[in-house]
Order: sequence, then structure tokens, then C-alpha cells
Amino acid sequence: MKLIDKHNRVHNYLRFSITGNCNLSCLYCNPDKKKNYKKDSLSKNQILKIIELFFKSGITKLRLTGGEPLLRDDFDELIIGIYELNKSYKAELGITTNGILLDKKAQLLSDCGVKSINISLDSLNIEKFKEIAGNDKLIRTIDAINNLKEYSNISPKINTVLIKGKNDNEIFDFVDLSIKNEIPVRFIEFMPFSKNEWRDEQFIPYSEMIEKIASKYDLIRAADESSVAKYFNIAGTKAKIGFISSISEHFCGNCNRLRITNDGKMKLCLFSKGNDILDLKTIIESQSIEDAQLSINNFLQVKHQEHPSVNELKILKMNDMLEIGG
Ligand code: 5AD
Repeated sequence: MKLIDKHNRVHNYLRFSITGNCNLSCLYCNPDKKKNYKKDSLSKNQILKIIELFFKSGITKLRLTGGEPLLRDDFDELIIGIYELNKSYKAELGITTNGILLDKKAQLLSDCGVKSINISLDSLNIEKFKEIAGNDKLIRTIDAINNLKEYSNISPKINTVLIKGKNDNEIFDFVDLSIKNEIPVRFIEFMPFSKNEWRDEQFIPYSEMIEKIASKYDLIRAADESSVAKYFNIAGTKAKIGFISSISEHFCGNCNRLRITNDGKMKLCLFSKGNDILDLKTIIESQSIEDAQLSINNFLQVKHQEHPSVNELKILKMNDMLEIGG
């Protein structure tokens, strides 16, 4: 089976937010600083059941997100369960984490075949990190990044959301990190989500980021590994820099992604309206695999060709990044 929408896009990539809890409160993602831990609404078995349904339906790439996915109490059992399940499907596994708990989990992730580890990191300066992320545990993330070198089957990347007046003065520090650690760094355009008070003055289009870096380094266009980032090598170094231009130049035309929120709702787009969901938690308990596949496929047919404009996004309510997962 293949999941194809009416714009002929094949969907083979699933991003699953396995918890709405996070140990950081980044101002662009969790501006309300929700800290009271809620019990995860999907059980490990429900998550595995949903993943299996999607593996059976043509998903070949799975990424766990959150919240902070490593915070789940049963994370170890869950990832082992995914590993066991994936023996029959051989999907590419990835995770997006803020890195605070990563050092402790790296061996397990490596053992379970999690190849792609994306680490969200927006400042290399402890004071600034505290201001953006609401926590002073920067060193834990840095240590985890350094220690990942020991795992040859893991390819890490750093994701940095650049916000004007907040952390854009660190752009060269991140480039240096990529040069020194030979780790790809991807700069992400700041996106509006409900309550994150996105303002035009804070927005830096990727073209401006490139211009700035090119004022100091020779950038050589590299092959794109995925449809979302435009990659460059830095001449004379092993650094690789990527730009994710979700706002100034969207890449909806070849979107291959589906998303599941931490409470088991399927979403067709990061920027879908709050009520544009399919309740998979109920479906997996009540429908046969064939009927569930039919429900998913029917829902997929309403996927829009493009995400809404910035002006519409600014006023969208109920698209909470903590629940959807990045
Ligand atoms: N704008 C851009 N990127 C964001 N992320 C979370 N919220 C936003 C936002 N408002 C990023 C995280 C993470 C990725 C999954 O999404 O930093 O790296």
C-alpha cells in the first residue's frame, strides 16, 4: 500500500510525538512554560499499534518527537518495542531531542538502530540558553553531542531556530561548531505557532542567513539529503550547513510527511488547523487494519496543496508545538 494524496504526493515519512511533556520551555515552542507533567495519554502498546499500522501502509521513515521524547518513563521499553517491530519493516528510525537526557540514552538508541538524531540547540552561551530554553543544562547537551562521536551508526544533526535580536549574533558560533565537530547544523526559520508571539521583526529569512555566512566563508551547494533543507559545504572544512525555509520558501510541493500528536491524533501538516485531525487512538481500538487504512487514506485526500500564509498562521489558534511535535 502507498499513501498518496490528491496532489500525487507519496507519504512515506511519519513523525510521532510520543509525549507532550518537555524539560525545557523554549520561548518559541512552550511560551506558557507548561511544566506540570501530565501522564502520557498514549500507552506504549497503543503507540506500537499505530506505528505498525503505518509501517503496513507504506511508511519507511519514522521519527520520534515530542515534547521531549526521552522524557517518557517507558522510553526504553518503547524503543526496544519499535526495534523489534521494525525487524520486519526495516524503516529508517530517527529522533528529535533537546539533548539534555541524550548521553544516558545514546547507547540504547544506537543498539536499537536509531540512525538519525536531531538535536535542538539554540544557543551556545549559558545565559542566553537559559533565556531561550528556561534551563541552565546546556552543558549536558554539549556533552551528549561530543559523545555521539563514539557511535558510528548514528548520524547527528543540530537544529537551530534563529530569532533576530535573540540568538542571531551566534550564527558564526554555530558555524564554528559545525566546522570543529564535523556535525551538520541546520538553521530553521522562526515559525509562528499559537501563543509564541511571532513578530515580523524577529524573522530572519534563510536568504539573509546565507548572505551573512557567505560574507565570511565560501559556501558550496551540496546535495540535499531531504526535501526540507538546502545544504552547503564550507570550503576547506568538513562542515555542512543547512537552511530550513518553511516560511520564506515553503517545500509543500514534495511534502511526504504525516504527523501524530501525543494524544493519538493524525495531522496532515504542521500547520493544520486544530480540528483538522483523525482520531487514531479511537480507530486502532475499534477498527480492523483494513478499515483503519481506509480511514487514513480518506483523510489524506483532504491534505492541502500548501500550508497557510504567514498572516493566516499568526492568527491560527490551537496549533501547539508541544503537542504536535516539530
Ligand atoms: N519555529 C521554528 N522551529 C521550531 N521548532 C519548534 N518550534 C519552532 C518554531 N516556532 C523546532 C525545534 C526543533 C524542531 C523539531 O522544531 O527547535 O529543532
